[in-house]
Amino acid sequence: MSKFYDVIVVGSGIAGLSFALKVSEAGYRVAIITKKNSAESNTNYAQGGIAAVTSQTDDVEMHVADTLDAGDGLCDEQAVREILKDGSSSIDELIKRGVDFSQLGDGRVSLGKEGGHSKRRILHVRDITGKAIEQALVNSIEISEKIDTLEHYFAVELITSQKIGGKGLSLPQTNRVLGLYALDTQRGMVETFRAGAVLMATGGIGQIYQYTTNPFIATGDGIAMAYRAGVEVQNMEFIQFHPTAFYSKNSSDRFLISEAVRGEGAILRNLNGEAFMFKYDERKDLAPRDIVARAIDYEMKQTGARHVWLDTREIGRKELFSRFPNIYAYCGSHGIDLEKDMIPVVPAAHYLCGGVKTNLNSETSLSGLYACGEVACTGLHGANRLASNSLLEAVVMANRGAGAVSKYLEENTSDLGELPAWQDGDVRDSDERVVLLHNWDEVKRTMWDYVGIVRTTKRLERARNRIQTLDREINEYYWNFKVDESLLELRNMISVAGLVIDCALQRKESRGLHYVLDHVDKLDEAINTMARRL
Ligand code: FAD
Ligand code: SIN
Repeated sequence: MSKFYDVIVVGSGIAGLSFALKVSEAGYRVAIITKKNSAESNTNYAQGGIAAVTSQTDDVEMHVADTLDAGDGLCDEQAVREILKDGSSSIDELIKRGVDFSQLGDGRVSLGKEGGHSKRRILHVRDITGKAIEQALVNSIEISEKIDTLEHYFAVELITSQKIGGKGLSLPQTNRVLGLYALDTQRGMVETFRAGAVLMATGGIGQIYQYTTNPFIATGDGIAMAYRAGVEVQNMEFIQFHPTAFYSKNSSDRFLISEAVRGEGAILRNLNGEAFMFKYDERKDLAPRDIVARAIDYEMKQTGARHVWLDTREIGRKELFSRFPNIYAYCGSHGIDLEKDMIPVVPAAHYLCGGVKTNLNSETSLSGLYACGEVACTGLHGANRLASNSLLEAVVMANRGAGAVSKYLEENTSDLGELPAWQDGDVRDSDERVVLLHNWDEVKRTMWDYVGIVRTTKRLERARNRIQTLDREINEYYWNFKVDESLLELRNMISVAGLVIDCALQRKESRGLHYVLDHVDKLDEAINTMARRL
């Protein structure tokens, strides 16, 4: 027997939780389906903060200009204006939900600075902004009587009217979402959920890369699911590599060293101890991320180094300790004293600028399916996201989507009756699990080696061949095997990796985060080379 809710929200990061709260406050019954415990999300690890215009000396047009500049000509200007103008009201809302942003000694809010911002405009809770936001939202969810949170439920597949072909139901003419299948990972059973509308808020795809700042949940499930249901997806080639993740020789974990540290004066140095960002951009260490990550990549390749250094020694202990306690402690636990030592850093896959295409009401191309947060592509980020714009986008678009979904539910019958139950494969073979593990590594290595910061058409084509082979293999498994979390995640990762490569091969230019040597303008290259020599 299936379960019915007005709205099903997939994902419990900032986007899903904000949306669920708003929709429940409008009187609807909501289920949040989340594959781990509620707090486990990219949101929970956000450090630098949330960008919004809250000071008298700043204005929204300046924030718009910085966002457009970082986005390298591919932002949707209307989306940028509409989203950024709601910055300050979204901050008020987070404060109302219990987020206690850091303040200066005189009681004014403390505003951080990050790459590409012409002003100090990043609100933060020391360097654990994401954890503070996540906790405040989870607390609000827990006291809501209209929301059921189903932890350890893995959303597997959307159910659409087109897919089930009207079996026993009287369906509307247009294709729409009717619910979804989700695996209860603790019992190993797939359940059927009926819903008036579904929000996809499953976050990013960092785990398709060998080195990433993202936690394990970021496997692109929502994008893969939406794509399989025929929903439009765009801009997948724009993968943001964060310039400064902690380098460790013995581990593929990449703990983030926030850009806000450079905002307070830290500078990048090569292994000879020389500052180098002045050669690449007049904003030096606070240039937009695509520029800084490429500069580091270039410096590392020139010298064969495995990392560069981030020098925090000028900042001062008091500031380092009070503003960045989490980073201070992490580095300390790896034997690095930020007052005396430099931090070894490397770029790592961090954020997906593309995703499920939505309009400014978070509506996707499938009726009844909404998307917001990192899984969605609204046009705000263009070819490269401005630092700390994603938490803001998630809250603003959750609010806008919640308004739109209420209207949709008023106009559309929500419960169309019982849906077909899930048909599982029946093969269980633990030997074959080894192959899955191997394929998991192969996706991550292929993407890292061939679809990274600097690309070539030849390497992209090589990656496409490998991913296509993996795709054929995983689909064979999928239809025969009893599904479990790792099989589902691997299938989704392969699918989004394929989308990243296809989009990358389709874009015949170098722009923003998509830097392809074959398409680097000869004149640009000559100018860049000259600039490097100055
Ligand atoms: P997430 O927070 O990632 O939540 C996704 C949710 O979906 C999770 O609950 C996950 O378990 C669930 N899920 C996924 N797949 C399924 C499935 N199949 N079934 C059920 N549940 C599923 N941005 C900023 O603006 N400022 C910052 O300072 C900042 N710092 C960052 C630092 C780090 C280390 C990282 C990794 C990112 C940072 N970002 C920052 C980016 C930002 O944190 C994310 O873009 C944002 O939090 C995404 O929120 P979300 O709600 O869309 O997704
Ligand atoms: C950081 O703190 O450097 C991350 C900010 C972001 O990803 O927006």
